[in-house]
Amino acid sequence: MWGSPDLPVTVDLTIQKRIIKMKELTAKQNEFVEDLLSRMTLEEKIGQLNQASVSIVGGFDVSFPELIEMNADGRISNEEFQRILSNADRDYHEEEIRKGLVGSMMVSEPHDCNRLQKIAVEESRLGIPLIFGLDVIHGFRSVYPIAIAEAGAFDTDLFARTAAMAARESRTQGVAWHFAPMLDIARDARWGRVSEGPGEDRYLASAFAAAKVHGLQDDHSSTENYVAACMKHYIGYGACESGRDYNTTSIAPHLVYNHYLAPFAAGAKAGAKTVMASFNDLNGVPCTANSWTLRKILKGDLDFEGFVVSDANAIREVIVHGYAEDEKDAGIKSVNAGLDMDMGTEIYLHNLAAAIEEGSVKMEVLDDAVRRILSVKVWLGLFDHPYTEEAAMHRYDVLPAEHLALAEEAAVKSAVLLKNGTDGTPVLPLAKDAKVSLLGTLADDKENIIGAWAMSWREEDCVTIRAGMEEVFPSLQYFKGFGPATAADELDAARKDIDDAVAYGDVIVAALGEPGEMSGEASSRASIIMPGCQRQLLGELMEKSRAAGKKLVLLAMNGRPLDLSWETEHVDAILEGWQLGIRMGSAVAKLLSGDAAPEGRLASTFPACVGQCPIYYSHPNTGRPGSRSKFTSRYLDAPYEPLYPFGYGLTYTQFEYSDASVTEKADSFDVSVKVTNTGSRNAVETVQLYMQDVSASLVRPVRELKGFAKTSPAPGSSETVTISLAKKDMGFYDNEGTYLLEDGKFRFYIGANSRDAALAAEINVKF
Ligand code: BGC
Repeated sequence: MWGSPDLPVTVDLTIQKRIIKMKELTAKQNEFVEDLLSRMTLEEKIGQLNQASVSIVGGFDVSFPELIEMNADGRISNEEFQRILSNADRDYHEEEIRKGLVGSMMVSEPHDCNRLQKIAVEESRLGIPLIFGLDVIHGFRSVYPIAIAEAGAFDTDLFARTAAMAARESRTQGVAWHFAPMLDIARDARWGRVSEGPGEDRYLASAFAAAKVHGLQDDHSSTENYVAACMKHYIGYGACESGRDYNTTSIAPHLVYNHYLAPFAAGAKAGAKTVMASFNDLNGVPCTANSWTLRKILKGDLDFEGFVVSDANAIREVIVHGYAEDEKDAGIKSVNAGLDMDMGTEIYLHNLAAAIEEGSVKMEVLDDAVRRILSVKVWLGLFDHPYTEEAAMHRYDVLPAEHLALAEEAAVKSAVLLKNGTDGTPVLPLAKDAKVSLLGTLADDKENIIGAWAMSWREEDCVTIRAGMEEVFPSLQYFKGFGPATAADELDAARKDIDDAVAYGDVIVAALGEPGEMSGEASSRASIIMPGCQRQLLGELMEKSRAAGKKLVLLAMNGRPLDLSWETEHVDAILEGWQLGIRMGSAVAKLLSGDAAPEGRLASTFPACVGQCPIYYSHPNTGRPGSRSKFTSRYLDAPYEPLYPFGYGLTYTQFEYSDASVTEKADSFDVSVKVTNTGSRNAVETVQLYMQDVSASLVRPVRELKGFAKTSPAPGSSETVTISLAKKDMGFYDNEGTYLLEDGKFRFYIGANSRDAALAAEINVKF
């Protein structure tokens, strides 16, 4: 099964289901693709496989990457770097486009897109349009919560609506291809890219994947309404050793099939048009040149009919990994493995012609790649509508109210209430006329509500925490206090603000956490506590608030699960606010004032300390599960349980679960439970169904999420929720990728989160 990962000369395209016709294209469109292909020269075919971005050239004597290094290691200052750049030129690769040697560009300025597209369409021999791609990860002009937060909304309709809005906003700027959704299952909070993806669980991630793909791709009422999705990073990137970005990954095949592949399979089924190969090596083979994952699993088993793009510069990195000798070798291994488009190295452009001539790449391999790329361009309508019209370009110059409303709705639904009061008396929501002291640099800052990978937002659309709360709490006073970047010489001023905040407010809301650039790519951390002096100063704030009899609320703003153990013990309430996007301020104000009740859940376990990483709820059992006794799977110096489990989140009322039952049907099990609102407020509860296959030929997780449903019984009333689990979904893949449904004992759990869901039944199942 591991196969020969490099299939150098004799790539057998029968290991993939060969795509001759894209199913969604009409017969005429497929003929158009074939006709075009038959008229292309070798160079033009290779050109389609080449993605370029705007290069910075001229005005300096070293290469651009070297210049960046020089700036990073201090050989030149930021000022000098900027001065050099201002003398440099931008190379838009016009000449290459004219010759038909570029298939795609990473450009997002609509006039640039149109100008380059005109060269491709009107001046290149065959007039094949370019496809413009961009990282639109959690919104374009409207920036929504970072994905790990939005996933916690457990709301597939929301996932699709935010994607659809992002598609419309970007397509009117020329961008027809989003490098999203990011679908890396991630279980290590040290990894900075946990922020970009849907968390740790295969089921939730799969629901997220399908919804995002549908949202991005399905509205064909106009070419201005949809884009091609790009599922990334394929595959296993989130399992990087020690949470360090780009690091090696070792994942047993059954875990690849059961966990890491699941969201990609769901997205492929939803019709995702492209996939991005990941940077990491998987069990020794870089994913850029991995025929097992690309040719066999993706294009074969999953019947994926779109094209695969490399990650940035990744074909060259195949050499650095130690898997290819030189650029030509790297290009040959990548294209033969099923990697269709080269992001940024021009290795295909410079080497594939020779490789074809000498026979180390077959023409049918090249044709397969070109056909896939052309088919996606046809599907996008680029041949008929290559340009962005001037009117469309300006459609969202002022964001319409419904865009802002969606951004706020997503933010409201994604925040997670982690703690509310210590002695059973809730601290939140706050009365609107309360004297509130709001403290923290992050509260008065637009950039840090946005999160990593958002490039097209504008200041005028953003509501800071301060602005949002001032609107709702008329007596609020803001104190800058401190934040992640507070320097040693600012401590005195910060302490004065702490004193003033405690003196003024009946309640102090401290907005603390990570700056946006501390998560996302190349942003791994070895410590996952609040960075800088924040924990120390929060300690001082806590002592002073307590002495003065004031309540202290933490609004956490972060791009990864943080170790909030100290905070959980010492502050009165915690709202996990993540980075919720442009309307974060108004959303937080609604939640803190009770205009909305929190309903977000954790899509990722919160560890009790960094030493627990990686940690996730759906682990297999050891022979000695952790407990308090010595010879069990535990730490001497830390708890074995996480701080907050997957699926966790409180609200302003309480829900009680009772009368759980399981009914066997011919093809499914119906798991029902009565949910009673025993508190005094309206709120939404996310009921979660977990399953355990008690004994199997490969040990199965202690619990696996198998379904969820929302309910909102009014105070004092109950609703019965039923979640149906199809029998065909109760199996698992073995190490060969064969799906097994094994008879035996199964346990069903239903409840509020992965830890508290209670046993509903244990049943002997025969499939
Ligand atoms: C990232 C990708 C991204 C690409 C293009 C890479 O560094 O890993 O997620 O899509 O750059 O910007």
